[in-house]
Amino acid sequence: VLKLGIIGYPLEHSLSPHLHRLFFDEIGVHGEYRLFECRADELADLLAELRRTSVTGFNVTIPHKETILPHLDEVAPEAQFIGAVNTVRITEDGLSGFNTDCIGFQEALLRHGCALGGKTAVVIGAGGAARAVCYQLASDHVRELIILNRTPERAETLSRSISRGFPRCGVRFAGLQDSHASDAIRTAGFIVNTTSCGMWPKVQDVPVELTGDLAGKTVMDVVYNPLATQFLRQAQVCGAEIIDGLDMLIYQGAAALQRWLNTSKSITFDYMKVREYLKGRMPL
Ligand SMILES: NC(=O)c1ccc[n+]([C@@H]2O[C@H](COP(=O)([O-])OP(=O)(O)OC[C@H]3O[C@@H](n4cnc5c(N)ncnc54)[C@H](OP(=O)(O)O)[C@@H]3O)[C@@H](O)[C@H]2O)c1
Repeated sequence: VLKLGIIGYPLEHSLSPHLHRLFFDEIGVHGEYRLFECRADELADLLAELRRTSVTGFNVTIPHKETILPHLDEVAPEAQFIGAVNTVRITEDGLSGFNTDCIGFQEALLRHGCALGGKTAVVIGAGGAARAVCYQLASDHVRELIILNRTPERAETLSRSISRGFPRCGVRFAGLQDSHASDAIRTAGFIVNTTSCGMWPKVQDVPVELTGDLAGKTVMDVVYNPLATQFLRQAQVCGAEIIDGLDMLIYQGAAALQRWLNTSKSITFDYMKVREYLKGRMPL
């Protein structure tokens, strides 16, 4: 039996147990996926306990994605760069941390036939999800990355880190309310919201108002609760192609399972079945 779980707080609305239990069926393994609710000050104790059990691995979510790093024995290069871990494998050598949000994002773009090499991308946000998305966009050779954030200083810090790691990628940043922000959105081929703005229950909120003609552009939201965020609705009215946050969630989960199984082979699953199943389990 493959023993997995998720650590975080709160966990009651997590879709990961549904996702992984369905993956168990899809790949024909017996598995269990448990919720390990854990507040910030309980992390060290829980990790010590998990090391002593037969659990193979676990997902990591709010509030531990960043603070777990010093507790790990090994951190994969992408997770080190991003500064956040969402997947941990337990072996006799200890705890190994990975970040699969970046791969989930990449696979979601692939699924929608969205190739961004050589293009300009706008990333809204500068938190953990933004770091994973920027890392992936820079790794996949976007020509230019424009980071827009409510707090411009955080956009600046992220843009510096991307410039250092990917010197060939042009990186700019601005505050969300800056006049450069609307120019950037007008000129970029791809715009992604990586903020939590618009997430249930504040479903009317948008990180920035989208107006005008966005035909030929792709607009993505990493928020998946609700699926059709107000931001994506506006994008669609303006004529953009849209990608919701559910595909990134599905593919980060598949990549996590691949790491727990410690295999180089991607997990194969019925994408439409998984997507429809999760849509039916949205916590809304
Ligand atoms: N689809 C997926 O697989 C997937 C994977 C990972 C995360 N996510 C989602 O991504 C979202 C962000 O997660 P995170 O871990 O990056 O959070 P985080 O590290 O706390 O960062 C939050 C970001 O959102 C911005 N923000 C929050 N409220 C805002 C508002 N009202 N207006 C404008 N900006 C606002 C913050 O700006 P400031 O810097 O100004 O505070 C910051 O840039 C969450 O909804 C999470 O569920 C989805």
